[in-house]
Amino acid sequence: MSLPASAAALLTEWLPSNDDPVRPLMTLGTIDPSGYPDARSVLLSEYDDTGFFFHTDSRSRKVRDVTETPRAVLTLVWPGRQLVVQGDVSPASADELDRAYAHRSRYLQLLAWLNTPELAMLDHEERLARWAAFAAEHPEGTLSAPETWAGFVVEPVRLTFWHGDPDTASRRVEFARAANGEWAESILPG
Ligand SMILES: Cc1cc2nc3c(=O)[nH]c(=O)nc-3n(C[C@H](O)[C@H](O)[C@H](O)COP(=O)(O)O)c2cc1C
Repeated sequence: MSLPASAAALLTEWLPSNDDPVRPLMTLGTIDPSGYPDARSVLLSEYDDTGFFFHTDSRSRKVRDVTETPRAVLTLVWPGRQLVVQGDVSPASADELDRAYAHRSRYLQLLAWLNTPELAMLDHEERLARWAAFAAEHPEGTLSAPETWAGFVVEPVRLTFWHGDPDTASRRVEFARAANGEWAESILPG
């Protein structure tokens, strides 16, 4: 993403390292085919020089949305802080997909296989039984990503860091990328 040094420093300060098993939660906003915005929570799998990665099921609405309109917004919130990232969306590489799947918890690795409309329609007992049977057939460490495992990177065009302050007004530090690739930094009221 070749960000200004001050933006990169804020990301390092605010986001956990990629190997931290506790992943930040983001609200991912997309544009649906009717033109309405849609939003849902996803985990930030990792971030690097190209942007912010999330992973999901290729049959999901969000994948339909970003395939049709490859633009998104991410919002991350912490006590006293908010980061909003607007950006362009593109598919993650095959290597990144495998790495992200390997880093998912056991539960989320199983979920990537079992997150199907068929299972969702069953009653609770049957869902428990199917989950347990699948887990028993596929011990920890033996699963690789299903074909439906999909990943995307949001390459920022704008990052807005909101700082709260109980003793004075909040304010935002914003970095916006112009068409020529240059980044501009500005200070905004909260
Ligand atoms: C705490 C939390 C974390 C979630 N993380 C993810 C995630 O990383 N990837 C994902 O596809 N869905 C995740 N979900 C489920 C999504 O919010 C959403 O319900 C699902 O992906 C379907 O979204 P869609 O129909 O808009 O595509 C998460 C939900 C919650 C509550």
